[in-house]
Amino acid sequence: MNIQLLNKNITDISADILVEFLSSDELNEHKNNKILNMAGFKAEQDSICFLHEQAILFCGVEKKKSDEIRSAASSMIKAVKSSNYTSVKISVLNNSTLTALVEGIVLAGYEFNDYKSKPEEITLKDISLVANELDFGELKTTFDEALIVAKATCFTRDIVNTAPQELNPQTMVTLAKKLAADNALECNILQEEDLAKEKMGSMLAVGRASIHGSALIHLTYKPSNPKKIISLVGKGLTYDSGGLSLKPATSMVTMKMDKAGACAVLGMIKAASELKLNIEIHAFIGAVENMVGGDAYKPDDVLVSRSGTTIEVRNTDAEGRLVLADVLNYAQDTVKADYIFDFATLTGACMVALGQYTTGLMGHSHKLKHDLSKAGTASGELISSLPFNRHLKKLLKSEIADISNVASKPYGGAITAGMFLDKFIQKENKNKWMHFDIAGSAYTEAAWDCNVYGGTGAGVRLISNYLKSI
Ligand code: BES
Ligand code: ZN
Ligand code: ZN
Repeated sequence: MNIQLLNKNITDISADILVEFLSSDELNEHKNNKILNMAGFKAEQDSICFLHEQAILFCGVEKKKSDEIRSAASSMIKAVKSSNYTSVKISVLNNSTLTALVEGIVLAGYEFNDYKSKPEEITLKDISLVANELDFGELKTTFDEALIVAKATCFTRDIVNTAPQELNPQTMVTLAKKLAADNALECNILQEEDLAKEKMGSMLAVGRASIHGSALIHLTYKPSNPKKIISLVGKGLTYDSGGLSLKPATSMVTMKMDKAGACAVLGMIKAASELKLNIEIHAFIGAVENMVGGDAYKPDDVLVSRSGTTIEVRNTDAEGRLVLADVLNYAQDTVKADYIFDFATLTGACMVALGQYTTGLMGHSHKLKHDLSKAGTASGELISSLPFNRHLKKLLKSEIADISNVASKPYGGAITAGMFLDKFIQKENKNKWMHFDIAGSAYTEAAWDCNVYGGTGAGVRLISNYLKSI
């Protein structure tokens, strides 16, 4: 599927079908009102109506704002893809909704077919977005940037969707090296012997039963005169079986997605480097597989983390925080960043708290929370803050070590996980750090908005938007 922006009169473009967004207010005045009425089209949000003889596809929108256009464009692209049209043309409404239009088309048009022996053939080849009488220079910039971010989101999705027998910590290293080579990033890999030298006892324990060696991946994007430095840390559990605290069979299915934090971070640094942002970006990934075996770490083990903090393991399925404890500590010692953001499919509790569409945001800085929720609104990603409190913090107390890896009570599990991570954030960094729990938002088994089955790429649009706003 090829998508292009053209500076022409829409009538001068030849395409099989024209797409028109229509709100219910506009419907009565429309020249096709009668026939649309006969077809039962009320221009409701996400509804569509083909007028094949006139070669028009009408798409209902509640209003002509970004969220509505993204969603309607998503319904549109799916409908056109399942037809036999080969080309469509769409009038660009304005600059402020162009990004959403591109996202709807690219992200809802996304397919992951690596494992299909005979993928369904798509006849649709060309999508022309047509702008006339609008500032084309401005539109072109918006279009190019939107495409970079949408493609980076698809890149993240591809990795999330890759099966765990193919994508393990070591193939994640190979993939990161390729990204670094393609995008002129610096790349430093710490293999198990290096992790041992670094005394990363917490991260190493999680991966011990796996046949694939754990690895810490550090990629850097360094523009010449950066305004800010940011560290992005990702949970890269290429598979989470739960370990000896084994997950029930039905909960284990989809746990290839436990690497989504790492994949998001890779998508973010890819987008930032292609957008040529003037911000130095460090991506730190803990790539680990949580398995069972004679050498597996156990509930009752006490781990010594890189920071020296000892951790009582009470549940080997709360492994993400153990990996992040060491990676966050390493990241803080390696780079003096202005911001430190971590992304992790950390807790099922986050989905209970916020639903599966929303990313949970935790940390101490009100300013960062405010700025990131603004980036959420602007990017169309849902994000909501979950507040820390001292009562929940007490639930992480251990009788025999400095901290327990699970809380003693089951409620507020997303927050107690966030507060566990907080234990590994150095004093001077408290207001620079934000934790993003993407357990719900990173993966879906039912299409919603511009997301289709599988990885969503949650975080990539949000952070690209935030970084552009700095
Ligand atoms: N990777 C899971 C969290 C998860 C669950 C992500 C469902 C996406 C969907 C994480 O490692 C985990 O298992 N967390 C436990 C923590 C518990 C043992 C305190 C959980 O959420 O049940
Ligand atoms: Zn787990
Ligand atoms: Zn996990």
